[in-house]
Amino acid sequence: MKLKGRIALVTGSGQGIGLATLKAFGAEGATLIVSDVVAERAAAAAKELTDAGYKADNVRIDVGDKASIEAGFDEIVKRHGRLDIFVNNAGIGGNTPFLDVSIEEFEKIIKINLTGAFLCAQAAARQMVKQEPLAGVRPKIVNICSLSGQRGGKGRTAYGAAKAGLDLITRVMTTELAGRGLNVNAIAPGPIETDMAQLAHTGGTREAYLFLTSQGRYGEASEIAKAALFLCSDDADYINGVTLNVDGGFGSQGLQYPLPG
Ligand SMILES: NC(=O)c1ccc[n+]([C@@H]2O[C@H](COP(=O)([O-])OP(=O)(O)OC[C@H]3O[C@@H](n4cnc5c(N)ncnc54)[C@H](O)[C@@H]3O)[C@@H](O)[C@H]2O)c1
Repeated sequence: MKLKGRIALVTGSGQGIGLATLKAFGAEGATLIVSDVVAERAAAAAKELTDAGYKADNVRIDVGDKASIEAGFDEIVKRHGRLDIFVNNAGIGGNTPFLDVSIEEFEKIIKINLTGAFLCAQAAARQMVKQEPLAGVRPKIVNICSLSGQRGGKGRTAYGAAKAGLDLITRVMTTELAGRGLNVNAIAPGPIETDMAQLAHTGGTREAYLFLTSQGRYGEASEIAKAALFLCSDDADYINGVTLNVDGGFGSQGLQYPLPG
């Protein structure tokens, strides 16, 4: 029971990586707060978690809307009194080639994946620095970035820029907040088998990922959840500002020959 007594919020946790992360936290005794822009999805996920024997609540938060973020965090603190763990997970995909990206698409992805993530991280950190800490417990924040924020992948103009920005914010947060009792880290997933990947990885993308991922497979949401659990537990108390790539080897690929086919 590594997270016993802790209040854990994950944005975009109605499904996919977010929901898998809450399941991992629930198994370690945390009180779970599901949040998603789709209220019915959040409610269904909370019911699934409660049915599995975990303590779960749900609050709708649209991370693309500052007022929704403020109202959501206020509601969580009102109901639970504190926040010990925050996983900044909500996000949308985007694959349009550079020459074709419209200003509308670029701004939408930046608004949700970067501005929204910044505002959520700020709201979580503001709460964590002002509350009385649980005895001996350092609050934890994990930002869900992406390998796409580290490499110049085709079609990754807006999505990659947003994730690279969040990666950098992780280190700024560490510099400013580690001395105030918080641990802030990031996870950069490679291709993970979720709805996002099913929808976006078409037209040869899937084959390209299978080739570029040294293990030759997509990861499972539960494999990101295990990394998040580690970074949100006391086991990571002396880990700050790290981006943990959970990517089957995608990020470390160099020269390969002969080329397949
Ligand atoms: N799946 C992958 O291959 C992969 C790889 C790298 C990074 N990621 C990142 O992991 C995170 C989770 O992705 P996933 O694969 O589980 O995707 P997913 O599409 O399965 O789940 C994303 C969830 O976020 C919610 N969401 C979308 N917009 C939102 C908003 N404005 N406010 C609140 N919630 C919102 C959706 O309703 C959905 O429930 C994202 O930040 C994504 O960029 C995923």
